[in-house]
Amino acid sequence: MKHTHPHPRATLGGKLSAVLVAAGSSVGLGNIWRFPYVAGDNGGGAFLVIYILCVLLLGLPLMLAEFTVGRASHRNAVGAFRALDPKWGLLGYIGVLSAFLILGFYLVVSGWTAEYMVHSLTGDLAHYSTAAEYEQIFTNFITNPWRPLLYTVIFALATHFIIALGVQKGIERSAKVLMPLLFVVLILLSIHSLLMPGSGEGLRFFFQPDFSKVTPSTLLVAMGQAFFSLSIGIGTMITYASYFKPETNLRHTALNVTILDTLVAVLAGVVIFPAVFSVGIEPSSGPSLVFITLPSIFNGMPLSMVWSTIFFLLLVVAALTSTISLHEVITVYLHEEWHMSRRAAAWATTLSTIVLGAAASLSMGVWSGWSICGMNLFDSLDFVTANIMLPVGALLTCLFVGWRLDREVLHAQMTNNGTLPFRIYRVFILLLRYFCPAVLLLVFLDNLGVF
Ligand code: PHE
Repeated sequence: MKHTHPHPRATLGGKLSAVLVAAGSSVGLGNIWRFPYVAGDNGGGAFLVIYILCVLLLGLPLMLAEFTVGRASHRNAVGAFRALDPKWGLLGYIGVLSAFLILGFYLVVSGWTAEYMVHSLTGDLAHYSTAAEYEQIFTNFITNPWRPLLYTVIFALATHFIIALGVQKGIERSAKVLMPLLFVVLILLSIHSLLMPGSGEGLRFFFQPDFSKVTPSTLLVAMGQAFFSLSIGIGTMITYASYFKPETNLRHTALNVTILDTLVAVLAGVVIFPAVFSVGIEPSSGPSLVFITLPSIFNGMPLSMVWSTIFFLLLVVAALTSTISLHEVITVYLHEEWHMSRRAAAWATTLSTIVLGAAASLSMGVWSGWSICGMNLFDSLDFVTANIMLPVGALLTCLFVGWRLDREVLHAQMTNNGTLPFRIYRVFILLLRYFCPAVLLLVFLDNLGVF
């Protein structure tokens, strides 16, 4: 191995593993919990169209840019930018900070999914039937002072122990088996949802664009959701790509991950929206949307307990492969830059995110009176990371890779040192240098009310 880095680094297995771990990070609560609720909040169909454009025109080039930075440097997010240009280390810090803040609320939602899995298994969820009842038990649960807290801590510890097993074993193994299963279950659930009475209205809401509902904030939210869902603008893909092998085809990996991630989000929409309209829930119910809708869907199925246990179990695993990637960004940063042992770095990450996660969890209930710009801590962490920090991280990353990074390095990474063809290389460069920064800036300025 010819690593110049003082810390010995693992590499991931073959081509499949690169796709699987990156998809493991991307596919998570962002697709199944966050996507339906922000699409529901932002008018449905038109949001979907804008979202898909953001994924293709911004997300994909940016994922390639992050892969380049990671594999060219073989370092953590901060060290990677610094190794390529000492002045750009700061950009990596935005990523590490975003990972920490995202974990703060992501662990809480992950905890909710774990609680729902347990309630499905014990049959508790099957005792109710109307959407109003499901809403009530959801509210009771998240406002309870200790139960969601307990699940947040359990989730943080589960993430910790998988991380502690090491990159290769922990991450690769879990992603390989369970991702495809999640896909199959989602397809079955979407068929069931489509057969529910009144499902047509939900389909129209989700697939029929009404562009009159689009505002500057719709664009920002769609962009933020695309970055959040693809795990971009935060150093996750840099960190993972630093473990990729030299022969991994970065373009195929990015394309596969993007397609998979988008398919899961669209499928989640096809599961959720027909059911939302069928049982009479408001599509703009916010973060509680899927937690009220899903039990209503299972309720109408034969063997509801089995389905809902399997589904929430898979959701727990999808969340886990994402929390692992967020945790890894911070752990490997502390390990390589602060020279902590990996063990100590992982514990420091786990304990600090438990503190933030606990505060975010309590902010839904006993601490809800305490607000930042009118939002509780949980909502502000969600809002600030997805709508501000990830787009800023993404903007600076495309400026760095498009304008600052040595062109030779970029070309070598995209073509594996000239051994792979890249027919649309010029289009890619144009997107990265001009299109992405311009769109990101315009959307920001628009939202600040400049126009
Ligand atoms: N992409 C993950 C999801 O959709 C969340 C995530 C965001 C993970 C940013 C890593 C970095 O659930």
